[in-house]
Order: sequence, then C-alpha cells, then structure tokens
Amino acid sequence: MINKARAGGSPPPAVRAEDLRVARGGAEVLKGLDFAVPRGSVTGLLGPSGCGKTTLMRAIVGAQARVTGTLEVLGLPVGSAPLRPRLGYVTQAPSVYLDLTVRQNLDYYAAVLGIPRADRAAAVGAALDDVDLETHADALAANLSGGQRSRVSLAVALLGTPELLVLDEPTVGLDPVLRRSLWDLFHRLAAERGATLLISSHVMDEADRCQRLILMRAGRVLAEGPPGELRERTGTDTIEDAFLHLVADDQRREEVRTS
Ligand SMILES: Nc1ncnc2c1ncn2[C@@H]1O[C@H](COP(=O)(O)OP(=O)(O)OP(=O)(O)O)[C@@H](O)[C@H]1O
Ligand SMILES: [Mg+2]
Repeated sequence: MINKARAGGSPPPAVRAEDLRVARGGAEVLKGLDFAVPRGSVTGLLGPSGCGKTTLMRAIVGAQARVTGTLEVLGLPVGSAPLRPRLGYVTQAPSVYLDLTVRQNLDYYAAVLGIPRADRAAAVGAALDDVDLETHADALAANLSGGQRSRVSLAVALLGTPELLVLDEPTVGLDPVLRRSLWDLFHRLAAERGATLLISSHVMDEADRCQRLILMRAGRVLAEGPPGELRERTGTDTIEDAFLHLVADDQRREEVRTS
C-alpha cells in the first residue's frame, strides 16, 4: 500500500519535511516544520527577516548542522552523496571569483562539477544564455553590477542542470525589468525541464509569481498552498493581508496555549 503511488511512477516530492528542527547558537531556530514541495513547481518561501528561510535552505542542501526530524530531498535522506549533483544552490550573498571573467568563473565551476572537458564550453554557453549574460562573458566579475554578479551565481547553479534549485532571495536589489526576466526564467526551468525551484523572499509582492507558497514566521510554517487558495482560506485579497491574518490567528493560538 505504502509503495502504491511510487509503483505507479509518481516520484516522491522534491522536499518533504516532518517535525524538522534546527538549533543555532543555543536556540531552536526551526521549531518543528511539516511541509512538502511538489516536483516541477515554483514554490516561494516567504517570511520576515530572521524567520529562518536561509536556515531551512541550508538544511535542504545539506549545509546545516544540528538538523533533526525527517528531511527528504528528491526521495533521499538529506545530505546523501548522490544528491550533490542533483541540487543547485544560490546563497543570499552570491560568491564569484572577482579576479576571473564570467566565463572563467563558469569554466572553473563546470570543472568542479565534473562536467567533461569536451562538454564544458557548451554547458557554460547554455548557462550564460539562460541568465542573459552572453554579452558580459569576458568581463571581469569585479567589474559587474550587483545584479549581474547574482546572475553569474545563478548561472553556476544552472551548470549541472539540477533537478532542484534552491535560490535564497535571488531578486533582492534588482530592477523591476530584471526581476521580471528572472521570474520568467524560473518558470521556464520548471515548465521545460521539469525542475523544482524553491525561492525565498521577504517581499510579499513576489508571492503571486509562485505556484505554491510556504509562509513562515519565527521558525514555524504558518501555512502552505497555492497563493489563490491561501487568499481564499483567509478571506483576503493579497498575500500580505493573508499573512497578517495568519499571524493574528497564530498569536491567538499561542495565547491559548500559554494561558
Ligand atoms: N550563525 C548563526 N548562529 C546563531 N544564530 C543564527 C546564525 N545564523 C542565523 N541565526 C539565527 O537564526 C534565525 C534564522 O536566521 P535566518 O538567517 O535563517 O533567517 P532569514 O529568514 O533567512 O532572514 P533574512 O530574511 O534576513 O535573510 C535568526 O533568529 C538568526 O538570528
Ligand atoms: Mg536569509
């Protein structure tokens, strides 16, 4: 019975968490999360600064210590060695080598990923094309704008054609045109390659660009589901209002718990 869905060919979710907890600096910063991220979706991870988005993403890519509970990624326990090439992660502070050109940065990471030498130029060219940076391929990373540099990091994450892309606030500080083109790219990656994208933001106006949302506050998941469903469930017109409504509900429950 348990294996019925798998036997029918439907793969496990991209991420599945049950009672996921993380301690940092002596405090519990993720306090028992339960959620799933379906494959092939663009899922937004939204919540105020400090609520635990980066910690959760680090846990999902296997870079976070002191994780307890269940956390499965692409059907495997988090941190399993075979997951490594199947994941792409762009950190909140993108890291590129400033003394290398954009193409040299990508060549270097392609080698680290183990892409055979004969295939590297094509892989680098495709990643440059994805993020629309071909015209800057031979510029030193040090001479790029902040937005261009974050697109180099995104290109690095795309090099291995990962099944799950974890992007920590990839659109922060970008102009509206660039933000739009990146969201278009995210949806293309999901639709054309079947990739799953988990994208964090603390800007609620990006919520409606996602197919699904996980709303977080203070180390907990407040709600998850498609944006329309969350608005409907809370009787609100915007995700910002839905979030405030859910926070108020949560606070009422907390008062009942502690009274
Ligand atoms: N290295 C650390 N040691 C101890 N506590 C930490 C450390 N890094 C983060 N924290 C704490 O963990 C909590 C969650 O931080 P996290 O960086 O995951 O939040 P975030 O939602 O990504 O915030 P932001 O939107 O500002 O990036 C915060 O309370 C933070 O103070
Ligand atoms: Mg963060």
